[in-house]
Amino acid sequence: MSKKIIILNGSPRKSGNTTALTAEFKRGAEEAGNTVTEFFLDDMNINGCKGCFGGGKNPDSPCVQKDDMDKIYPVYKDADIVVLATPLYYWTISGQLKTAFDRLFAVAECDPNYRNPKKESVLIMAAEGYGFEETLYWYEHLEKHLGWKSSGKVLCGGVMAMGDIAGKPELQEAYNLGKSIQ
Ligand SMILES: Cc1cc2nc3c(=O)[nH]c(=O)nc-3n(C[C@H](O)[C@H](O)[C@H](O)COP(=O)(O)O)c2cc1C
Repeated sequence: MSKKIIILNGSPRKSGNTTALTAEFKRGAEEAGNTVTEFFLDDMNINGCKGCFGGGKNPDSPCVQKDDMDKIYPVYKDADIVVLATPLYYWTISGQLKTAFDRLFAVAECDPNYRNPKKESVLIMAAEGYGFEETLYWYEHLEKHLGWKSSGKVLCGGVMAMGDIAGKPELQEAYNLGKSIQ
């Protein structure tokens, strides 16, 4: 059965290493018959969560703030799999991804017990070094809290400049992970 996949891409570099990985993931996933929608968060007008606990009244536009998150909410709602894609920034995810992810709290607010919609997820990352531990710690806790199941991770260290990723085996890994989804 084909799946609906949303990619939240938190890299500001459209020709960068993270996007090279998401492109391969997407190619594999689409070849396997899945539907993939990728959002380049840096291109979008997305404000930070205000922590007002006032959302969740309208499932189609659950946040009190009206901005480009309204393009993401319906795709997120329909998605079976959420791909979190980001460069490693100071041992964690980029601000672009964190900001958008915080705003998904408004979707949980649609449930009286703040239950999140059940999803699978994928983590895709690029970094100059290999210090992914803190992000993996965060990802594991996030999964547990949301009740999500991880379908896989692609972590590519040793890439700094745009293009450094050429020839790296993680590109094939990303393709294979996408292709394995059905
Ligand atoms: C603000 C900033 C913080 C970064 N912090 C780290 C870091 O903590 N560890 C690391 O290995 N690389 C770090 N990097 C390097 C990026 O992770 C690396 O260049 C990555 O390939 C960028 O991905 P992109 O091409 O998708 O933008 C940082 C880069 C920037 C711009």
